[in-house]
Amino acid sequence: MTIDLAALPHDFLWGTATASYQIEGAVAEDGRSPSIWDTFSHTPGKVAGGDTGDIACDHYHRWREDIDLMRRLGTNAYRLSIAWPRVVPGGDGPVNAKGLAFYDRLIDAVLEAGITPSVTLYHWDLPQVLQDRGGWPERATAEHFAAYASVVAERLGDRVGHWTTLNEPLCSAWIGHLEGTMAPGLTDLTAAVRASYHLLLGHGLATQAIRAAAPDAQVGIVTNLSTVHAATDRPEDVEAARRADGHTNRWWLDPVYGRGFPQDMREVYGVELPERPGDLETIAAPLDWHGLNYYMPQTVADDPSGPAPHARSVRRIGVPRTGMDWEIDASGIETLLLRLTEEYGARRLYVTENGSAFPDVVRPDGTIDDPERQEYLVQHLAACASAARKGAPLAGYFAWSLLDNFEWAYGYEKRFGLVHVDYDTQVRTIKGTGYRYADIVREHGNRVRRAA
Ligand code: IFM
Repeated sequence: MTIDLAALPHDFLWGTATASYQIEGAVAEDGRSPSIWDTFSHTPGKVAGGDTGDIACDHYHRWREDIDLMRRLGTNAYRLSIAWPRVVPGGDGPVNAKGLAFYDRLIDAVLEAGITPSVTLYHWDLPQVLQDRGGWPERATAEHFAAYASVVAERLGDRVGHWTTLNEPLCSAWIGHLEGTMAPGLTDLTAAVRASYHLLLGHGLATQAIRAAAPDAQVGIVTNLSTVHAATDRPEDVEAARRADGHTNRWWLDPVYGRGFPQDMREVYGVELPERPGDLETIAAPLDWHGLNYYMPQTVADDPSGPAPHARSVRRIGVPRTGMDWEIDASGIETLLLRLTEEYGARRLYVTENGSAFPDVVRPDGTIDDPERQEYLVQHLAACASAARKGAPLAGYFAWSLLDNFEWAYGYEKRFGLVHVDYDTQVRTIKGTGYRYADIVREHGNRVRRAA
């Protein structure tokens, strides 16, 4: 399969992505306080194998080596997240100078390597102290988030131009508060809906705070979206697909693009939103860009007695799947990029995450060949290029992930990295997919140079 690199702009960002809790380790160092993920992962039975992020990829100590890996891949961008409990261990109030200094050094080194940093402020590691005070279901958490955003933007805003408020608020709200398989592990619809509201309010307030601290900042939000298909053409299943689309996609996109929370989904949830005058305007502050995280499509059937949105996932037979058992359908990424462009009018788009986990085999010579992951990458990049050709303002792609890492409730069992991590020795080895990605990045660079 070929990728139409001509469809991608000359200044395309070719990146890799990571998240603080998934790679940093050093959970009790330099004044960091526990996050909800420390609590969750240390609760027996919550994470496969009893794994925790205590050490993870030890990136807190090995960041120089990791930047070197990015250099070897030839990527020109890096998406990382900041751990709120390192910077403001109390959730609000005093700033931890050592925590902030870590990111200061990291950003300087990333820039020195000729790599553009893209900073995410919230990739799920809420300080546990704020959870103890009610967490995202409480409005105060959104306000504290904005204060923390302001601290980080004031310190890094002279060097970081590219900011993300939230990563995948769907996971924080629906998986963390409704399904209960992510921190904080609740199964409470009212808490989930309130959390979703305050996450988006926090996004809006943080957007204002970042812009106040760093007027040239380019601010966006990252949502994980899916294409949604009805399992059959029975009207009940078609309706279920509409609700699942509302739950996964419209609930997050409509308010951010100024349409308010979708009325049909308000009725499905039947939970009163904690609205105050002016909130919707805050949530809908125009964005500089939108980040799409795409992994898989959904197929659903009506499930009247199941939890909201009363649509159950149907496993399609005979379709390719990743090691996560997620269906592979590269056309979904194109559909969603075009939907963001045409239906929502997104001004600039990045694929902020896309990738696949497969079991890796380290060969006797130490190399890792991972043809399935390579195929996934190439198929999805080709679909991105196709969306760009059809008019999507796609400005970059960030592969998930730079490193194998702590895959949340799956622990270390599932490996998404372009780079293999041996968790016993912390030795990093670039996989076949990493080399393939490097080739594609180089090929695009050569094209750009030839055209200049
Ligand atoms: O590892 C996660 C990441 O933290 C958020 N997006 C999905 C990835 C794969 O599950």
